Amino acid sequence: MKNKNKIGIFDSGIGGLTVVKKMFEILPEYQILYFGDTARMPYGERSSEIIKKYSIEASEFLIKKGAKIIVIACNTASATASQELKKKFSLPIFEVITPAVEKAIQITKNKRIGIIGTRATVNSGIYEKLIKEKKPEIKVFSQPAPLLVPLIEEGWLKKGETKRIIKSYLYPLKMAQIDTLIMACTHYPLLREQIQLKIGRKIKLVDPGEEVVLKLKEFLEKNKAIEKELAKNKNHQFYLSDPTPKFQEIARRWLGQRIEIKLADI
Ligand code: DGL
Repeated sequence: MKNKNKIGIFDSGIGGLTVVKKMFEILPEYQILYFGDTARMPYGERSSEIIKKYSIEASEFLIKKGAKIIVIACNTASATASQELKKKFSLPIFEVITPAVEKAIQITKNKRIGIIGTRATVNSGIYEKLIKEKKPEIKVFSQPAPLLVPLIEEGWLKKGETKRIIKSYLYPLKMAQIDTLIMACTHYPLLREQIQLKIGRKIKLVDPGEEVVLKLKEFLEKNKAIEKELAKNKNHQFYLSDPTPKFQEIARRWLGQRIEIKLADI
């Protein structure tokens, strides 16, 4: 019998496709089941109660469609709802914050870490809390960067306006002399080059999406019984709560391939 168990990934919208891209690079054999809540995005400006409610619904949807593992691609949902989801559901749930924190702690030399993310992620204080729990001597500097998500979705990656906005968001972090920067939002890896340019060539960038996929890889290597049961094929399924042509186009641009997007009956 063919395996039907899938790796479910969810995000507030299509930002999680940067995590899918990392899955294609690092764990290409597994079938992915993606849900993006485009009808209700952005999560980054919402209250934690609403983010938790939406994240529970997203997880229920993925489980109904055959997910046996869930990856919360969205930084905002990871920051706000991962504890709740882990309590509520019994399947393995991966969030992007812990692996990013571990990586940043490992690579910082001067013990000064910067974070950029949505307002909800920054306000949650979760990155700072986890870093301080592990290494109280590390100084953390956080900066919300809410304008970047719409600019990235508009494809304004190399425009002067975008470069200027990045510069002004990063200025306080530069002044704080961080040596490591966590790009704590699904979208930011698309601006990696420009962020690197503005923060400085020597600063190390951490992509939580990449780190969570590496964590998942480690987990699958250790948990053979779960790994064996996962579907291995390229029939990835992409569901959005509002599949407009705009998202088709962005998905094609970001993944470099056309994907079939279906309406999620959430
Ligand atoms: N996916 C969200 C995140 O990673 C960004 C977009 C949103 O605010 O919904 O935080």
